[in-house]
Amino acid sequence: MRIICFTIASIILMNAGAFAQTKAGIEKRPFGKTTEGEPVDLYILTNANGMKTKIMTFGGIVTELWAPDRDGKLADVVLGHDNLKGYLDGHPYFGALVGRYANRIAKGKFTLDGKEYTLAVNNGPNALHGGKRGFDKVVWKVDKAEMTDKALVLQLSYVSKDGEEGYPGTLTSTVTYSVPLNSNEVRIDYSATTDKATPVNLTNHSYFNLAGHDKGDILGQELTINAEEYTLADDTLIPTGKISPVKGTPFDFTQSTPIGKRIGELKGEPAGYDLNYVLRPGKGFKLAARVFDPKSGRELKVFTTEPGIQFYSGNFLDGKDKGKGGAVYKKHAGFCLEAQHFPDSVNQKNFPPVILKPDAVYSQTTVYNFSIAAK
Ligand code: GLA
Repeated sequence: MRIICFTIASIILMNAGAFAQTKAGIEKRPFGKTTEGEPVDLYILTNANGMKTKIMTFGGIVTELWAPDRDGKLADVVLGHDNLKGYLDGHPYFGALVGRYANRIAKGKFTLDGKEYTLAVNNGPNALHGGKRGFDKVVWKVDKAEMTDKALVLQLSYVSKDGEEGYPGTLTSTVTYSVPLNSNEVRIDYSATTDKATPVNLTNHSYFNLAGHDKGDILGQELTINAEEYTLADDTLIPTGKISPVKGTPFDFTQSTPIGKRIGELKGEPAGYDLNYVLRPGKGFKLAARVFDPKSGRELKVFTTEPGIQFYSGNFLDGKDKGKGGAVYKKHAGFCLEAQHFPDSVNQKNFPPVILKPDAVYSQTTVYNFSIAAK
């Protein structure tokens, strides 16, 4: 009898806790050292609804993101590792800031102002995600970690030297993560300046599973992408330059569709989605994509200023990555929606331009908003 009373009491307490207002704030914790001995910190941003976002200074990585389901129960909806070692041992960009150039540059080569630049080739014949030591593998400086009357703000910066990873110009990037006190979203404002012309394309590479990072695959989660076209690519995922309609293909997510519904029709090894969508309108802040998980009721909306978004269905995950709490991340354990300029834009004259000049300021804003929906 006592056991039953205790159980009922704890259920009531748990539910009360789930809906109660939490004390909002930012907590800083040491998170280990890099192989070079640089200290890394973890920042825990908790808003008034209890949504928790953990971000570390190594790679500006979002390590955990606890969002409520339809019963108010929190789950960690991003893939990642428990500790710094897990990330230092190598991982497929879990939660990371990606730069100086997110996505691919054909053969690692481009010409700017008459000079040819050669980058490290780290993805088949191409350069991917900023090189061997991209912005995902550096320790970001914390410029600000504060709670305002509206939001929790963590501002990070990183100065990439002239010639780093083969890119021209000293590039100073600032990335501001902010979480509103009363709304469950993570806003990411990126800005950058340079002293020489250079390509810039910054993004965040979080892998989401709206059921929880350790809850199997994302194939039943329903996706809408606000795009009628995509950039057609070759076998190495370099755009051919052609913009193709999604209509009549398994890439059509103009209507909400389970991610797994047509995934079996896709070619490639390993098969799955890994393509850049052409968002409409190309300029300005707009809703880019929406994902809904029928099981938990969680809904994710992605808003961005960027002209494109890479939808990647975790095709390369193969169970080798032991994740948080021993979770095994198999193929399609998470999806990425990487707001970006189109891949290889630096070699494609008809794509929106990506060259930042010394007199200009690069900026991009992307918002990941969590809510509950009925369908
Ligand atoms: C991006 C790419 C994928 C893959 C992942 C990281 O989404 O488009 O092909 O490289 O990053 O594994």
